Amino acid sequence: MIKKAILPVAGLGTRFLPASKSIPKEMVTVVDRPAIEYVVKEAVQAGIEQIILVTHSSKASIENYFDRNFELETTLENKKKFDLLDEITKIIPSNVSIVSVRQPQPLGLGHAVLCAKDVVGDEAFAVLLPDVLVKTNAEQNDLARMIQHFDDSNAAQIMVEAVPDDLVDQYGIVDVKQAPAEGQSIVMQGIVEKPAIGTAPSNLSVVGRYVLPAKIMQLLQNTPKGAGNEIQLTDAIAALQQTENVEAYRMAGQTFDCGSKIGYLKAVLHYGVAHPKLGGEFKKMIKELDL
Ligand code: G1P
Repeated sequence: MIKKAILPVAGLGTRFLPASKSIPKEMVTVVDRPAIEYVVKEAVQAGIEQIILVTHSSKASIENYFDRNFELETTLENKKKFDLLDEITKIIPSNVSIVSVRQPQPLGLGHAVLCAKDVVGDEAFAVLLPDVLVKTNAEQNDLARMIQHFDDSNAAQIMVEAVPDDLVDQYGIVDVKQAPAEGQSIVMQGIVEKPAIGTAPSNLSVVGRYVLPAKIMQLLQNTPKGAGNEIQLTDAIAALQQTENVEAYRMAGQTFDCGSKIGYLKAVLHYGVAHPKLGGEFKKMIKELDL
């Protein structure tokens, strides 16, 4: 059973400037809550009980968001605003804890994951990259399915989705004999970080959701700098795949890359129309737009 999830949030979000100049990009609002809340909820819905933030000194507002705020709670209580009080105290269930460790230098995603080594210990764990929102609901949670596949096969799971051939150089790409059906996993033959266009082994890109054995931490310790002169998680997974089965899990849901401005706008549209209270009016507004 996977109970711990690492969320690397130390990145400075240069793709999202100027919005991310003085607030973390993870705190930028998608409809009525920060983007990071959707990612934490996705993890919690999949059974995660400990969220490990790998963070940076400039990003305390992320930890504050998931902490209690006694002053605000007392004010809302005194003003009898019980709905709001309920909302801000129930962002995460009481059985879920948030802990944080620092990534002291920006040495890459692999290094960020390695910073959580002592918190993870000898347990298998999930990694969720918070730039990417994966639309979920109680019936369909791709991370939960990946965890199920891991429990069944004991093979690391890497979530993938197909991307256009001219975008493969922006992602980790997996090598598989045959593309798995949505919701299914298949043993992969290899994985490569940001291959040049025309050299990629497939068009199945790494989405930013992983289920990994604790052993990956030892491999990360020995992983040299790779693409972009950074320590890449992809390279440690490639090393793992040399010694044991690693599976590509093909997601069934939809992703939104909130690290890019256009991906963010798409997320606002989709989550806006799906919002239980605001969705109806928001849809009406969109239809009324004279485009
Ligand atoms: C990271 C991973 C890459 C993955 C991508 C998904 O890259 O290294 O394998 O495909 O996230 O968003 P980054 O976007 O941080 O450069």
